[in-house]
Amino acid sequence: MIIRKSPREIERIAAAGALVAETIAYVGTLLRPGVTTEALDAAADVFIRERGGIPTSEGYRGYPKAICISPNEVVVHGIPGAYTLAEGDLVTIDVGVTLDGYIADSAYTFGVGELEPEARRLLEAGQDALAAGIAEARVGNRVGDISHAVQTVVEAAGFAVVRSLVGHGVGRSYHEDPHIPNFGEPGRGPRLAEGMTIAIEPMITAGSPEVVVEPDGWTIRTADGSLAAHFEHTIAITAEGPRILTPRVGPAQDRESAERIPGRASTPEARRLRR
Ligand code: MF3
Ligand code: CO
Repeated sequence: MIIRKSPREIERIAAAGALVAETIAYVGTLLRPGVTTEALDAAADVFIRERGGIPTSEGYRGYPKAICISPNEVVVHGIPGAYTLAEGDLVTIDVGVTLDGYIADSAYTFGVGELEPEARRLLEAGQDALAAGIAEARVGNRVGDISHAVQTVVEAAGFAVVRSLVGHGVGRSYHEDPHIPNFGEPGRGPRLAEGMTIAIEPMITAGSPEVVVEPDGWTIRTADGSLAAHFEHTIAITAEGPRILTPRVGPAQDRESAERIPGRASTPEARRLRR
């Protein structure tokens, strides 16, 4: 069942979303070679709770930590632990916060120091895909319009979307209807209506889109060991268009809108040719 939220509820999700964005930014300032992911998680846990929030992931279906931290070939649901960040790593920070009973969810893949060109392009494609998906999140469109826009941008950049992991409704619960796949046909799927709040979250890979679950039951990595990236916003569908409820702050920033046109490749070569 798809739950449409009142304007008052959307403001509450936005308040949770602001804390989500601040938490991602805060963790972003702590990233450096040598830091463990469990140290980042502990800092995030304190940061969220000091501000009156609850880390939504903690205890969710038995999940053991406050946030998900997914390095390199880990796509999603990396459990913070002894892994030590190194120069050149990609690291996804995925945060859910419950504030006054309402939930927002967002993720951002950071680079640690200097990145290889392929890793940089993967981040750009993930960001552009999320922006393209958000642009389709309008009253009267369908879920498939979002899905198709995401897929088009990712594949035009030469990357792949993971099929088995999807975005979702969010707000009163962490995961609500509908599913928001990152691939699909325009004009298909549930119709988008005013008051829907959804998490759009392209999960993309530099190689094969196949993923495997580790024995811990959570960590999902690429089957071929290729790099992955994940960008997620919680948005509200309003009469005025999509409203991002988890707007970026600090070192986590979305890319320039000029680069966000669906179907436009965002390789360095493509950018040079457009100048
Ligand atoms: N934040 C994740 C999402 O984007 C959900 C994580 S569930 C957890 O949907 F239990 F792994 F934290
Ligand atoms: Co999500």
